[in-house]
Amino acid sequence: MKNIVLIGMMGCGKTTISQLLSKQLKRPLIDIDEYLVDKYKMTIPEMFNISEAYFRERETICCMEVGQKEGYIISTGGGVIKNQKNIDALHHHGTLIYLDRPVENILSDVEISTRPLLKDGPQKLYELYQQRHELYLQACDYHVINDKSLEDVVNNIIHLCTAE
Ligand code: S3P
Repeated sequence: MKNIVLIGMMGCGKTTISQLLSKQLKRPLIDIDEYLVDKYKMTIPEMFNISEAYFRERETICCMEVGQKEGYIISTGGGVIKNQKNIDALHHHGTLIYLDRPVENILSDVEISTRPLLKDGPQKLYELYQQRHELYLQACDYHVINDKSLEDVVNNIIHLCTAE
């Protein structure tokens, strides 16, 4: 069975929606950010304090490991599309869903303290969206806009992935 892999900006709803998908479809869930923290026994801000490259190398190793699994719901970090190796690994057994949420909505509830890239303020989120939107579109199998109820978004994803 293929994995369902959620990609998209930080704060776009990947964590919440992956938990709902996991519950509804009774499938195990892996959050790659949590997998990284568990594996390397360091927080994400600690890794970024060494350097972003340090974090990205470890993120790629985790994508390769997690990409070998089957039948999982997988939530990714927002920067996963920065390296084609990550996308190839996750595509191996997975359907990639781009969860696209308006930046204004993200800004209304994103937790900044755990996201090192946002330490310079909200403007950074607009910049990242501009840089990354095309990459998410290129990487994904399905583009899903997250501006409705969570229930609608979850049902839409289930419909797309089970109709394959
Ligand atoms: C990042 C997003 C974060 C985390 C890291 C880098 C990014 O994950 O992987 O801080 O580059 O957008 P979330 O999308 O879960 O916040």
